[in-house]
Amino acid sequence: MPSASSDPVPAAHPPGAWPPGPPSGLTGWGLLVHMARGLPAALTGWRQAYGDLVHLRMWPEHQLVVSDPALVRELLVSHHGAIVRWERGIEIFSYLQGNSVLIAEQEPWAAKRQALQPAFAPKSVKGFVATIAAAAGSAMERWQPGAAMPIESELTSLAMDVIMRMMFSGEIGGEAREMEAAVHQALVTGNAEMFWPASAPDWLPWKRHKRRVRGLLAGLIERQIGARLAMPQDDWPLDLLSRLLELHRADAAAWPLAAVRDECMTAFLAGHETTAASLSWWAWCMASHPEAQEKARQEVEAVLEGRIPDGEALPRLGYLAQTLNETMRLYPAAPILMSRRATRALTLGGWQIPARTMFMIPVFLMHQDARWFPEPQAFRPERFALDAPPIPRGAFMPFGTGPRVCLGQHLALAEMTVIAAMLLQRFALAKGEGQREPEAVLNISLRPKVPLKLVVRRVVRATNGGCADRAFKT
Ligand code: HEM
Repeated sequence: MPSASSDPVPAAHPPGAWPPGPPSGLTGWGLLVHMARGLPAALTGWRQAYGDLVHLRMWPEHQLVVSDPALVRELLVSHHGAIVRWERGIEIFSYLQGNSVLIAEQEPWAAKRQALQPAFAPKSVKGFVATIAAAAGSAMERWQPGAAMPIESELTSLAMDVIMRMMFSGEIGGEAREMEAAVHQALVTGNAEMFWPASAPDWLPWKRHKRRVRGLLAGLIERQIGARLAMPQDDWPLDLLSRLLELHRADAAAWPLAAVRDECMTAFLAGHETTAASLSWWAWCMASHPEAQEKARQEVEAVLEGRIPDGEALPRLGYLAQTLNETMRLYPAAPILMSRRATRALTLGGWQIPARTMFMIPVFLMHQDARWFPEPQAFRPERFALDAPPIPRGAFMPFGTGPRVCLGQHLALAEMTVIAAMLLQRFALAKGEGQREPEAVLNISLRPKVPLKLVVRRVVRATNGGCADRAFKT
């Protein structure tokens, strides 16, 4: 069992020695082809064959696949100052997100993170719960339950709406479907480019789809910024955009308008895609585990008694939170963190690792490791109960860890809990006749291969508030 400490382990292997890994042949490019055909399967096979620290030699790179919780923490926490994100990944992400907090490194990153952090702190998120509930309430009023409701698409529009309200005090409205398609296209293109050593110039004629997607998303953000700048500052609402524009007006050199736009784009993309993916998988888990769904609904009923959830109620929805955690364990929206590169030599788990080594961190391997999660394929929310056996630090990290842990994790958890509770108050989820577990596809985030549809029925709350008396109607 790994130690809970993330302190570096002293060097125990001679310089030049590498952990075990698959034979690489002359160039090792065969390994890259193997990964491009199916990255999760390739990483699972190598972990089984070679252990928690696997060396891949792909000329000219040395890469380590790290799937031991203590080693991942050692890398991301203790060695934070000695690693940067993989430059090719960053190049691909920056096509849409410029130089935002998700892209920047070192000092510029720290300044952006510090400026944004207060807006995403637990206290700010608590103040935002009523807005999330308002967005969820009006979306769910429009839902049309039935035998094959497009639940994933509905949840994606809702997650977009929430982040639009937080950033711009606005709503996504009729643009949601077009933006959903644009974001999906951007993720598929970005994911494919990860396996190319370089991208062909974006002005080439066959790249017009990529340019169109960027134009659409940039247009959405720029319209909001333009409208806000046209308003007298005294009338600006208290939201993320006003906060960023205040930074711009206070110091336009540090916060040019382009930087404001980049942060808005990142908040829009990072702020809805992973939340929507996680909620969609949660809906599937609830539909395929009716007993867990009923237990969560009874808790929601007991705590809220039909009321809209508020910041005070959320911590009391403990079982609901367990179902969300168990969903993110089985279907982490970011199953592989962005690869890192060592900027200088370091030791990791006693190995002396030279500068420029790359690190891949497949969170999903830790989440599916029977040492930390017995019968890892089973959906068991009880694993996360307060009185359950402790989970080793780092074995569950849907939001990453260390200084670059997800900026929006508190928002995401509050948002998912509010939406899940309100959904259970109004609807019952079930699988269709013979419906099988959706095939999960990794396109930067993990989504069902075919957009998820479920049987959705309206739940009518009995007048005495009791769950047992509830009647269902379609
Ligand atoms: C269930 C929902 C979410 C999941 C699973 C998730 C997951 C993650 C993960 C794993 C990382 C770290 C990536 C790495 O270390 O390579 C990350 C970073 C980030 N996330 Fe999230 N995220 C979620 C929701 C959100 C939301 C709602 C926002 C709001 C804006 C957000 C904004 C960000 C940003 C800005 C970063 C980059 C932070 C930095 O580099 O300093 N995320 N997220």
